[in-house]
Amino acid sequence: MFAINSYVQAKTLTEALQYKQANPKARWIAGGSDLLIQIREGKLAVADLIAIRDIPELTGITLDGAENIHIGPLSTFGQIAADPVIQSRIPLLGRAVDQAGGPQLRNVGTIGGNICNGATSADSAASLFVLEAVLVLTRLDEAGRLVNEEKAIGGFYQGPGRVDIAPDQMLTDIYIPKEKYQNFFGHYTKYSMRNAMDIATLGCAVYSRFSDDLSRIEEVRLAYGVAGPTPCRCPQAEKALIGMEPGEEAFRKLGSLALEEINPRDSWRASRSFRLQLAEELAYRSGLACFEEARLAKGAAGGQGSARAETALKESAGLKEGAAPAQEAEKAPAGFGDQRRWFMSCTVNGRPVEVAIDNRESLADMLRNHLGLTSVKKGCDVGECGACTVLVDGKSIDSCIYLARWAEGKHILTTEGLRGAENELSIVQQAFIDEAAVQCGFCTPGLIMTATEIVDSGRRYSREELRRLISGHLCRCTGYQNILNAVEKVAGIEK
Ligand SMILES: Cc1cc2nc3c(=O)[nH]c(=O)nc-3n(C[C@H](O)[C@H](O)[C@H](O)COP(=O)(O)OP(=O)(O)OC[C@H]3O[C@@H](n4cnc5c(N)ncnc54)[C@H](O)[C@@H]3O)c2cc1C
Ligand code: FES
Ligand code: FES
Repeated sequence: MFAINSYVQAKTLTEALQYKQANPKARWIAGGSDLLIQIREGKLAVADLIAIRDIPELTGITLDGAENIHIGPLSTFGQIAADPVIQSRIPLLGRAVDQAGGPQLRNVGTIGGNICNGATSADSAASLFVLEAVLVLTRLDEAGRLVNEEKAIGGFYQGPGRVDIAPDQMLTDIYIPKEKYQNFFGHYTKYSMRNAMDIATLGCAVYSRFSDDLSRIEEVRLAYGVAGPTPCRCPQAEKALIGMEPGEEAFRKLGSLALEEINPRDSWRASRSFRLQLAEELAYRSGLACFEEARLAKGAAGGQGSARAETALKESAGLKEGAAPAQEAEKAPAGFGDQRRWFMSCTVNGRPVEVAIDNRESLADMLRNHLGLTSVKKGCDVGECGACTVLVDGKSIDSCIYLARWAEGKHILTTEGLRGAENELSIVQQAFIDEAAVQCGFCTPGLIMTATEIVDSGRRYSREELRRLISGHLCRCTGYQNILNAVEKVAGIEK
């Protein structure tokens, strides 16, 4: 049970801002993947929550008439990575957020939450800094009208966990003007101790524009995460590169000059000196990667510095060692009430259910305690092990950091729901048995749900892709080879 004092779920922006006027101390909650952890760890004294996750106008990616890119703050990492506008115009950002957490996390974590949480390690931050993103903050004035204020992302971070947003404001749009991204090439490199489910030890984004013949750097932007208490740019280093020939010498210079402008700290994750070494090297590699991208885009294969760029890129790849839902209006607490009980309707394993829950319960608790679905395991209870994975409307999520309330009207699938009409096992379950992919079995139901999502996608994947798709799970005893063999058997590309 989360220590939530009160909870309301807004359906419109105005309604959310009205709730906030009534209780300025209340916190916005989007995906909850930062906030619910803070509540679980006792870091929030009184958690009054206003859920904004059901406000449709705050999600999605659009291009306006002037080709500025608008990203709704409720867009999840998964949505952003898969979006065609992002992929075609600012792939740097899509690739950056695709490195956050694991697949379950990317199905719930939002870009707005990532920024407003104020962490220097946020995977979207360095890219948004080099994109010179503009944040739109909205509040209600005394007459109840929506008032927007724009802030550059560069000044938004004020310190660890602190951002420049007033209590009555909400982040409602993140936009990137066309002139900030047009003709630029970018690369984000994240160094972390594990390939998944780990925050950045250091993150580095380089964004560059070159002359038409690729002989000169016209502009370069460099930003880091975890190189100081907040994400930061390196303006002096950037300036020094203007007019230089792109290549090893220029980007080595970028890395070494950047050291004068950053201030990483010692932490249990890495020492300051290691972070400095990373900062220098990642600027160099990311810079060369930008140039390589420009070369490929312009079809100028064989240009100066290209062989070195390719070598550095290869090195870079090996860098990481290491029933119909009830109407909410009839049921929701009036105003900022503290109504704890909630009758929710959803479909679980194909059957409509109506269940009285406590607003503070996680979906994992609801499924286990109210419905007896004990295949849903609770391992870490903080979104790190994947043992509690279930499918909500076909997408895998960690049910331990997903409020039960959020499943209202949705279709939930657990391992109990996979049996066929004759009680036979699903092909995924059978593959786990055939490949001896089970030992103690604790992680198995969660892994089976992720594998089911993979199979249901109808796509076939390489072993490497499958490894990444199951990276949100920890198995403490079987080891991963047999598990991968099982998943590959049902979803892998024929060898
Ligand atoms: C296991 C695990 C692994 C993780 N790995 C990574 C990782 O590799 N990289 C990474 O960057 N992050 C990681 N995170 C952190 C987290 O998932 C991200 O920061 C995510 O983007 C937070 O988004 P959310 O919607 O879940 O935020 P929430 O938890 O809902 O909110 C976070 C904060 O932002 C505020 N907020 C949310 N939306 C708005 C808004 N529109 N306007 C104003 N304030 C708002 C909330 O009040 C809160 O203070 C990880 C988290 C977990 C649990
Ligand atoms: S991720 Fe939910 S129990 Fe570990
Ligand atoms: S089978 Fe024991 S933890 Fe995976």
